[in-house]
Amino acid sequence: MARISLLSALRRPAAAWRLVAAWRLVALLALGGVGAGSGCQANRPAELRATAERGLVQPTNFSAMVYGLANNQPDQATFELGRTLFYDARLSSDGTVSCGSCHRQSQAFTDGQALAVGVGGRRSPRNAPSLQNLRWRRGFMADGGVLGLELQALAPLTSPAEMNTPLADALAKLNTDAEYRQRFAAVYGPGKIDTPQFLRALAQFTAALTSVNSRYDHYVRHEPGGTLTNSELGGRMLFQQKCSSCHATDLFTDEGYHNNGLDRTFANDLGRAHITNRPADAGRFKVPSLRNVARTAPYMHDGRFATLAQVLAHYDHGVQPSPTLDARLRQPNGRLGIPLSAQEQADLLAFLNTLTDNEFLNNPRFKQLQQPGLLTKSAQIIAAQTAAARLARN
Ligand code: HEC
Ligand code: HEC
Repeated sequence: MARISLLSALRRPAAAWRLVAAWRLVALLALGGVGAGSGCQANRPAELRATAERGLVQPTNFSAMVYGLANNQPDQATFELGRTLFYDARLSSDGTVSCGSCHRQSQAFTDGQALAVGVGGRRSPRNAPSLQNLRWRRGFMADGGVLGLELQALAPLTSPAEMNTPLADALAKLNTDAEYRQRFAAVYGPGKIDTPQFLRALAQFTAALTSVNSRYDHYVRHEPGGTLTNSELGGRMLFQQKCSSCHATDLFTDEGYHNNGLDRTFANDLGRAHITNRPADAGRFKVPSLRNVARTAPYMHDGRFATLAQVLAHYDHGVQPSPTLDARLRQPNGRLGIPLSAQEQADLLAFLNTLTDNEFLNNPRFKQLQQPGLLTKSAQIIAAQTAAARLARN
């Protein structure tokens, strides 16, 4: 019976999900363009290629990078182009929403909303995840529906609930902007700005968002500043015993999709099954990294938990049964969840707080630059108001 109801749920996705399916089609269509290799790197000026990017270090406590450098060799000019694009609200249909609206640096590139807010106040079907260490990610989105960092940007750009701009419109906007034309030409040579150039420039910025200097990192790498308190150390031990099989490695994810017991049924969001169409994947979501987790509330794919204390309470006594619930959340005695005493929850919380990387959260390299000619609409209005106020005072 359970199987039949899961199958019928798969055939009737909620309305919001049809929109998401449309993004994915767009992404697939664009794949040919990105693979085709126009905007070739080989003819870039040597001095551009020579400027190495600082975010590119391979941290000793991380696994090998996934996102290849061969097709998109980092350099300062392309990174800066990516940064400008990331914060440019003109790429949305009404000029109000940029990537940076939903991905804010001080919140590890999340937005503090349960469900992200796009043009016209429309809600995305999911919570905006943190953007960090994306070079090491294989699958993107809570269901792994996008497989490459470059292609990923097409989803929010074109989604009606996010930036609502067809790719062709975005390229047309870039191509009519003299400053963008000049900056793209400096990197990729003369000619029209095309899809691969646009997506690769943006990916240089998102790929550079490396978080690797939390107090925890200093501790595991035996560096100065790497001391943990007894409570934090106790929390770390509990974490290793009870959490790290899913939140694995120092990236804090096994890159897998698991059902951590949020719901009994999945009509609102099938999770991984939305992509695979396999009933066995219903209710499974990508294991998120827990880096900077103290800054990324609210939590889970739909932002249902406002605090980390609520998340720990969920694992202790909130886990819901369903056919796809992960076996690690069933105790041998049949009890569901991961039993955690009040003291254990306090220690785990202390440990999770050691994952905050202030250097990453405040790195000026990732902030929005206010360049003349590239101000967002609202920034232009504020600038005009400030100028008017100054005139009135004089
Ligand atoms: C309206 C808010 C919004 C805007 C604007 C937005 N995003 Fe997102 N972003 C999200 C949400 C929500 C998700 C998760 C979607 C999902 O899981 O299906 C996401 C996911 C991502 C991911 C995947 C991260 C991971 O670990 O899986 C990346 C990368 C990303 N966004 C980059 C961007 C870029 C680049 C832009 C600009 C082109 C952008 N976003 C614009 C809300 C937004
Ligand atoms: C069976 C695998 C599994 C285990 C074990 C597990 N988690 Fe998770 N965790 C997940 C998945 C999957 C999600 C994402 C669910 C979603 O997006 O709806 C998640 C989400 C979270 C989040 C929310 C992160 C965010 O950005 O939204 C926190 C915090 C968290 N887990 C902490 C823990 C802690 C602490 C433990 C140990 C007590 C633990 N987890 C054990 C799989 C697991």
